[in-house]
Amino acid sequence: LEYQSQLAWKTDWMRRKFPGIEVRDTLGMKDPYNYRNKAQFPVQVTGEGEVITGFYRPNSHTIVDTDTCLIQDERLNELYQYIRKELTSRLAKGLRHIFLRRSRKTGQSQVVFIGEENHFEDLTAKLVSIFPDLVSVVFNHNDRQDNVILGDESVILHGSESIEEDCLGIRIRLNFKSFFQVNPEMMEVLYNTAMEAADIHPGDSVIDMYSGTGTLGLLAARRGAQVTGVEIVPEAVENARENARLNGITNAQFVCQDATEFARGFQEQADVLIVDPPRKGLSGQGIEDIARIDPRRIVYVSCNPNTLKRDLERFEQKGWKARWVQPVDMFPQTPNVEAVCLLEKE
Ligand SMILES: C[S@@+](CC[C@H](N)C(=O)[O-])C[C@H]1O[C@@H](n2cnc3c(N)ncnc32)[C@H](O)[C@@H]1O
Repeated sequence: LEYQSQLAWKTDWMRRKFPGIEVRDTLGMKDPYNYRNKAQFPVQVTGEGEVITGFYRPNSHTIVDTDTCLIQDERLNELYQYIRKELTSRLAKGLRHIFLRRSRKTGQSQVVFIGEENHFEDLTAKLVSIFPDLVSVVFNHNDRQDNVILGDESVILHGSESIEEDCLGIRIRLNFKSFFQVNPEMMEVLYNTAMEAADIHPGDSVIDMYSGTGTLGLLAARRGAQVTGVEIVPEAVENARENARLNGITNAQFVCQDATEFARGFQEQADVLIVDPPRKGLSGQGIEDIARIDPRRIVYVSCNPNTLKRDLERFEQKGWKARWVQPVDMFPQTPNVEAVCLLEKE
């Protein structure tokens, strides 16, 4: 579909999905290509010693050998093509994934080799001499027998484990283990929409559940709120605390805990609660605990309309009404839709 038709299709799809709720027109990009800031390419060596890197064929473990990706940042394509060219079968042995990340705003790039054996010192030296924007090269050790991409142990080959990003004027340190929105341009549109929904007044108490590196919480803190962010990945929590410091923000704290557990134990009062869960959405228990906290508004940021729909129905049973849904085209050229939803008590 050409791009304007993609946007119209997404709006129509969301309106059918959420009858009875105001679904606004999908917000889209001016230039809907080369937007992704993160890539994970699986690697395989065939019986004949041929190295294959690219993308998995849908619902399979077969890698389709791929040289470029039209929705990937151009610099990441250049880095990827260089690494591909250098990957002999000896180097590729035991290598599972090549992980790449870049910030277009700061120009910093990162490469993480994920595999069973670290033999990437020479390749790192070559990469760093050719790509001066490369500020982080890491080997992440993973010999697990499941499909989890990242292992626990890492060795820094160059720079540090993090790169710096900027979102709406907030500086962000970003560890490769921390979640970050993959489309930085639309991330800003998404977060502005979330802040519109949150309607924060100075002095409000705000909970940012599933806070990642803390960006949404820090934006709320910049509007004068007293913020508590909750996130389960320790590296992301560390980033969030560091990001508060980096930006001189003292009215935000970050807790490393399961979000549902946090909600269950929370005994204070909150004015606004922001949730931005992974694709599986919230649990029934999580919704009960959030409803019990009884904030003035709930802002639900969702990357999966199916679980959003299920969760809105559960919230409705607890007396919460969805006022509007704003789809945001985080993932042009794909059928996925991101959305912000404002919930208020009926
Ligand atoms: C969709 S991301 C949103 C992150 C952040 N709000 C942002 O926009 O960058 C979801 C986040 O939830 C975290 N997470 C996953 N399961 C969790 C849980 N049970 N409790 C708390 N955080 C969790 C993930 O690590 C990830 O950072």
